[in-house]
Formats: sequence, C-alpha cells, structure tokens
Amino acid sequence: MLGPVILAASRSDKMRRFISAAPGTKQVVDRFIAGETVDQVVPVIQDAAGKGLEVTLDVVGEDITTPEQAAAARDAYLELIGRLKELGLGTRAEMSVKLSMFGQSLEGGHELALANVRPVVEAAAEIGTTVTLDAEDHTTLDSMFAIHEELRKDFPQTGCVIQSYLFRTEEDARRLAAAGSRVRLVKGAYKEPASVAYQDKAEIDKAYVRVLRILMQGEGYPMIGSHDPRLIAIGQELARQAGRKLDEYEFQMLYGIRSDEHVRLAAEGHRMRVYTAYGTDWYGYFMRRLAEKPANLLFFARSVVTK
Ligand code: FDA
Repeated sequence: MLGPVILAASRSDKMRRFISAAPGTKQVVDRFIAGETVDQVVPVIQDAAGKGLEVTLDVVGEDITTPEQAAAARDAYLELIGRLKELGLGTRAEMSVKLSMFGQSLEGGHELALANVRPVVEAAAEIGTTVTLDAEDHTTLDSMFAIHEELRKDFPQTGCVIQSYLFRTEEDARRLAAAGSRVRLVKGAYKEPASVAYQDKAEIDKAYVRVLRILMQGEGYPMIGSHDPRLIAIGQELARQAGRKLDEYEFQMLYGIRSDEHVRLAAEGHRMRVYTAYGTDWYGYFMRRLAEKPANLLFFARSVVTK
C-alpha cells in the first residue's frame, strides 16, 4: 500500500525539498548512497575488491531539465572513468547510467541522450570496462532499447536492464538473449499502470522466473539483479540446468542491501556485482529504496523524529 504513495512522492518537488532538508535524512541516505564525490566512492570500490566483489557505479541523478545538466552528467561519468583508469580499477568496476540524466526527456532527447552517453561508453571501453543502461519508466524504454542497439554496433558489450513487472519483457528478453549480449533482469522499481505491468508481487516473481529461464537458455550473459533469496536459488538452478559455468552469469545487488549475502555468494565462487550509487542528487534513487521496503520508511521517520 505504501510503496505507490512513496513512488508518487518521488516525483514531487515539494517532497524533495522537505525530505532533503529534514534532520536525520542524511543518516538514512548514507545506507544506500556510497558517498557524494568520486574521492568518497574510491575507498568503497577498493573495499569491495578486497572482499572479492565487483561493482557497477551509478552517479545518481535523473529528471534533469536542461541540456547543460545532461552534459554535466556525461562529464561526471567521464571524471569517474578517468579516476578508475588512474587507480587501475577499470577491470573491477563497470558503470550504470540512466538515460534520463543524459537528456532523454528533453526536446530532441533521444538524440541528445545518445550523443551524451556515447563518449562515456567509449571511455569505459578504453579502460577495459563497460556500461549498462538502466531501465526507467515504461515510456522511456523504446528509446532506451534503440540507443542500446545503436551503441552495441560499436561496443557490443554494452548492457541493458529489463523489468519482470512489465508485460513486454518476455518478448524483449527473447530478442536480447543473443550471443554477446549482457542483460540485467530486475523486478522493476517504478509506479506503472495495470495496462502495462503486473501489480501483484507473486505475478511479478513468476514473470521473473520465466524471463530468467529465457536469458539462461539464450546465448547472452544474464545478470541476476535481485535480493530475493528464492529467486537467487532459482537463478542458480536455472544456470545449472542451462549448463552454464560460474563465469557465464552473475548476481547483482544494491549497495547497503543484504551486504552479507554479497559476500556469501562471492565466497561460493559466484561473480557478485554491487550496484554502488553515489553523488548529491540522491532523492529519486533514495525514494525508490524506501518504496521497496516500507520498513525503511519507519526507520527513516524515526531518525527524523529523534533528531
Ligand atoms: P524484493 O523487493 O522482494 O526484496 C527481497 C528482499 O530483499 C526483501 O525482503 C528485503 O530483505 C531485501 N530488500 C529489497 N529491497 C530492499 C530495500 N530497498 N531496502 C532494504 N531491503 C530490501 N529497477 C528498475 O526499475 N530499473 C533498474 O535499472 C534497476 N536496476 C537495479 C540494479 C540492481 C543491481 C538491483 C539489485 C536492482 C535494480 N533495480 C532496478 C531495482 C529492482 O527493480 C527492485 O526494485 C529491487 O531490486 C527490489 O526487488 P528484489 O528483487 O530485491 O526483491
């Protein structure tokens, strides 16, 4: 019940101002956001590497309103890639990007987002790593998949995300499960209407299994993005049935969520990548994390009240 209300609040400027200014917010935000600057996230990557974990880095931000902000987003990723190169961390870290932050929703946004993301994908390839295009709300996906296809002509390792809550996803998975593709499957974190998405958790989970089976039986590289213990066990079983070796798929989880499980799966020999978000524009990302687990909201409310 609370999830949709929190997701609606994630689009409100008034709530953004209120929550950003509330005392106690930072303490809760810090659980999910690894820092504000590149300098603050570097030790987090190094710590993850020390535990046998890989990362995918997200410079948080979305819903930008000017082409200058889109260019600044591109530059923030280029700065990050420059630091990874200096530190020799390119092989441990890939990038995750939201095309909305690169200008997708502005006028001429499809071309603008492609023009802004291309240099990031190029720079990532130069240091031996890659970029995954996050999936945002369903209205953005045709553009995201077209940009993904375009980028793959020159950078075939570019990944993308699909969401099991959407009716369209099984078909997308069939098209994407081809040799050389990298596809992260998640349940989906946006408020979507019943005309395009399952609303019931059990239906979303069943769809996740159907889509994961398609990816595992295909020829691409599946990335299992979930903290759900049942789906993680099913993922291992589907990989086994498809005859995949441990380096032919990976698990991915979010920074700050089920951290013991990150280490446990890595210790079992699985490739585990932690989606590590950092930056100052954390509001949208943070609100989706609250919506996923309403208990987080209680914790948040308590920390605000007790400050
Ligand atoms: P589920 O929500 O059922 O959670 C299973 C268990 O995990 C919970 O019982 C709880 O213990 C723990 N948990 C999950 N979320 C938590 C939270 N916020 N706080 C505390 N505990 C939590 N979505 C999207 O639409 N587009 C995208 O591009 C991405 N990208 C992405 C990358 C990666 C690596 C992950 C793991 C997830 C995403 N997501 C996403 C988010 C995804 O769609 C989904 O909302 C969350 O992963 C929560 O779903 P679970 O599969 O974890 O299951």
